[in-house]
Amino acid sequence: MEEVDCELKWWTEEYGFFGDYYMEGDNSIEGYLIGQQQTLEERTNTEVEGIINLLNLKGKEKILDIPSGYGRHSINLANKGFNLTGIDINSVLLKKANLDAQKIGVNVNFIKENMIDINFDKEFDAVINMFYSFGFFESDEENNKVLRNFYNALKPGGKLLFHTDVNIPRILSGQYKEDEIRHLHSQKTLRIIDKYNPQDKRIHGAWIIQDQFGKIIRKDYSVRVYTLEEFVSMCKQVGFTSIEAYGDWNKTSYTENSEDMIIIAQK
Ligand SMILES: C[S@@+](CC[C@H](N)C(=O)[O-])C[C@H]1O[C@@H](n2cnc3c(N)ncnc32)[C@H](O)[C@@H]1O
Repeated sequence: MEEVDCELKWWTEEYGFFGDYYMEGDNSIEGYLIGQQQTLEERTNTEVEGIINLLNLKGKEKILDIPSGYGRHSINLANKGFNLTGIDINSVLLKKANLDAQKIGVNVNFIKENMIDINFDKEFDAVINMFYSFGFFESDEENNKVLRNFYNALKPGGKLLFHTDVNIPRILSGQYKEDEIRHLHSQKTLRIIDKYNPQDKRIHGAWIIQDQFGKIIRKDYSVRVYTLEEFVSMCKQVGFTSIEAYGDWNKTSYTENSEDMIIIAQK
């Protein structure tokens, strides 16, 4: 497998994984969970209902969505009356987010910033980190710093919701897809390769998008995947008091076979 160019971090706008390339690949005909065939919009609706349910939100809370990507959760939540700030490092995605928010007339405070540099102090009732958006940095110290930033951004009693569809027990028991093809609404195909390396505890993956004429664009990535135990221990270290883990949006307890890992940590 091609190595990620270390000089240019894979998650930066310049590298080109996030941006138009990501938006195209994120919208596959098969949907996100194999067998569910949910459209992107249906998936976002399910996740937003789940966020409200798991965080027990009442309607007016101040929420930080980080990283917010092209704003699918922020806009949906703001449309329901919540007070939203969305932070992402990618201006292509933020532009799309702002346009979509304008289109339906909702107000979201979208900000371009690196999640390792944010500096909020007790401002939010909830912080959401959605869809495999943690562990991007190379060292545990840096990823820890990001978690500490989330903690600092919360008011006392506020809650962090962390969500991923990648979890170690499923990877180790061979249940996690390592190589799959998805069909995109743009008529192209997306091949996703996800290889877990137990040495550095990271997934070294790639997206390979191929058009009808055979033209291929490949982008590599590398994400540190934390086990439930590791993540809970990190949460305790930064100061979270109560921590719960769920395996789906219906509040089913997390097990080693859960397809999702959703953690609610309270300050
Ligand atoms: C997997 S996407 C998820 C986005 C969104 N939460 C969602 O579910 O649609 C990860 C996002 O992280 C953003 N990102 C990557 N590195 C970042 C960083 N260092 N600081 C802020 N955002 C970052 C990317 O631009 C991308 O939008």
